[in-house]
Amino acid sequence: MELRTQDWKVLRAVRELGGRCLLRDVVDSSGLAHAAVARSVLALEEAGLLKVEERRRVDARLTEEGASYAADGLPERRLLDAVLRLGGEADLEAAAEEAGLSGDLLSIAVGWARRKGWAAVSEGRIRASTTRPPPRDEDEQLLRMLAGGGTVEVGTLEPSLREAAKRLERRGLLELEERTLRVLEITQAGLEALEAGPPKAEEITQLTPELIVSGAWRGVKLRKFDVKAPVPVVYPGRLHPVQQIINWIREIFLEMGFTEIRGPIVELAFWNFDALFQPQDHPAREMQDTFYLLEPNRGVLPREELVDAVAKTHENGWKTGSRGWGYRWSREEASKLVLRTHTTAVTIRYLSEHKEPPVWVFSVDRVYRNEKVDYKHLAEFHQIEGIIMDKGVTLRDLMGILTEFYRKMGLERVQFWPSYFPYTEPSMQSTVYVPELKAWVELCGMGLFRPEVLAPMGVKYPVLAWGGGLERLVMIKLGVDDIRELYRNRLSWIRRAPTCL
Ligand code: PHE
Repeated sequence: MELRTQDWKVLRAVRELGGRCLLRDVVDSSGLAHAAVARSVLALEEAGLLKVEERRRVDARLTEEGASYAADGLPERRLLDAVLRLGGEADLEAAAEEAGLSGDLLSIAVGWARRKGWAAVSEGRIRASTTRPPPRDEDEQLLRMLAGGGTVEVGTLEPSLREAAKRLERRGLLELEERTLRVLEITQAGLEALEAGPPKAEEITQLTPELIVSGAWRGVKLRKFDVKAPVPVVYPGRLHPVQQIINWIREIFLEMGFTEIRGPIVELAFWNFDALFQPQDHPAREMQDTFYLLEPNRGVLPREELVDAVAKTHENGWKTGSRGWGYRWSREEASKLVLRTHTTAVTIRYLSEHKEPPVWVFSVDRVYRNEKVDYKHLAEFHQIEGIIMDKGVTLRDLMGILTEFYRKMGLERVQFWPSYFPYTEPSMQSTVYVPELKAWVELCGMGLFRPEVLAPMGVKYPVLAWGGGLERLVMIKLGVDDIRELYRNRLSWIRRAPTCL
């Protein structure tokens, strides 16, 4: 391996920097581009003239929220100060007002003030545990170190501050960024190579028109590309990882011959439930699951003939051969407005206007459920939904289509088993095997729409339908185990989420 002038210069720069330094220092002192230095370092390492050691380092910096606390004080500190100003004990409300804290911020303040042993709360009163403000704690010391937008290497902090860094990261006040540093050290052979002076023959890194026209290229030495040479990390603009996966799923549906449809987010209970033969006293309709609109709280039902058919089907089965639910169907209940709880509302609405086969449509869109948000649940999330209406389609087709759909997503092992939905018969649930998790994960529910659903719509052919959550799939694909991460907009996560799935 022959040295190029540039490699020699890099080697010399390392010696001048004391024989041991960071790759970055060489970039700064030589004025060469990072990529150029990195390439030389690689060549020098290969030639045994440099030793290269990788060191990971984690830098902390404040998030926007963290920066605001660095300026105004942590909420728990502001609360404690307020209580002390009020004489060491006060109504929580009064203390909150004195501190200028409300809502979420107040509960955060109370939570941490208790945890830090600064105050106790009972029966709406808050009591400070000390008469004087305690000294700045680790969280506050760290905030101060970082105020003004600087960074600190977490590994250089003392253990208690390192703990604080973890705590503040969980609170969303700090962002941790991991970087790899390359430490270079010149070897004995390297020192000798420097003594021997700069190389004479030069390898050509760029083939120019002159070299080609003059024929000189025949006589020169061309340098090989090294596609593995390290380069600085760049963070170009990109789509949000969830949006990327949505687009990818759209492509899969489109490849399979489906057309995308959309429907309203604010939907009539009629389409979200009644048209799907969900009884009006079905638990899913209750307030704890469904968001009902307050203003306006009623919408306009579709054409009378359709409403009438749905009403009769619920009441006595109409002409479907079913006995129905055997109650008096309420127009009131059906004209309530809800935030749609599933995208099946979108497909049934579409079917009511498209009765001629074939219909192959899908939707990937938002749905809403009144869930307590935790690592597994969100109140606003996405569903994937598809239907096929065609002459003679069967359950086997449905299983085949689903298997193909999953296969295109890289999920090869699929299982189906009987399940229940009010609007399909037979109904099935499907799970896929996720090798990364070594587990079977439930994805889509499916089935054939019941006659009680199809007859009122005037649909004469079988309809295969399936639907399921999108976020679970996204989490599998991105290796995320807390669903909230997907929408927290933590830049460090968004930047590092894989682009190629
Ligand atoms: N709507 C169902 C859900 O939200 C899924 C489903 C769609 C089931 C279509 C059967 C047919 O879980």
